[in-house]
Amino acid sequence: ARTAAVIPAAGRGVRLGPGAPKALRTLGGTPMLIHAVRAMAASRAVSLVVVVAPPEGAAEVRTLLDAHALPDRTEFVVVPGGETRQESVKLGLDALPPGFDIVLVHDAARPLVPVDTVDAVVEAVRDGAPAVVPALPLADTVKQVEPAAPGEPEPVVATPDRSLLRAVQTPQGFDRDTLVRAHGTVTGDVTDDASMIEQLDLAVVTVPGHEEAFKVTRPLDLVLAEAVLARRRL
Ligand code: C5P
Repeated sequence: ARTAAVIPAAGRGVRLGPGAPKALRTLGGTPMLIHAVRAMAASRAVSLVVVVAPPEGAAEVRTLLDAHALPDRTEFVVVPGGETRQESVKLGLDALPPGFDIVLVHDAARPLVPVDTVDAVVEAVRDGAPAVVPALPLADTVKQVEPAAPGEPEPVVATPDRSLLRAVQTPQGFDRDTLVRAHGTVTGDVTDDASMIEQLDLAVVTVPGHEEAFKVTRPLDLVLAEAVLARRRL
């Protein structure tokens, strides 16, 4: 079974502060998106990468891909994205040619995921799981709160057992037909793709995630990402 990776990269990255769309910000002088594309193409299993670009930025992203050294054995397609992450992923799936039975969905905002994590996800899908997520235990205790008016303190209502909680990362891996079906039937806000599979009552399993697959969301994450990259270049 051939494997394709869809990279949603159409977000504005508001939480990172003012500037270019998040995926186009640089780490070690190279756009975050290029790091993410290389991370997917680094897996020998991945032979196609679909980049979902900011709606007005597809041409710019194509130019960017052409300007950077990428593996010859991998094909790259660029499509314009949508209003939400979910819509962007759907547009990426629509662009997949036949013959790719396994799909990875990987956030451009996780530029430093190691290839071993990518391979572990692919392997678990090949072994028959319809949906696979890289997951890590939490360092922080998590509280559930009740919404409160702005400026008012939020009452805590529960403390879920931390030992049963996981922070999940990308790439998330899927049986293609299952993911396409999920995107055709599940409505409502979701923050990851695997939750759509859960809504169809299908099994989602975890593989070990990796610290370096963290999501670059806030300014401090950029500092950490630069440090990880510098250490790799030693
Ligand atoms: O906003 P969040 O951090 O969850 O975004 C995760 C990924 O989804 C990012 O790589 C972002 O570029 C992408 N995204 C997208 N289209 C949107 C919103 C987010 O491709 N409309």
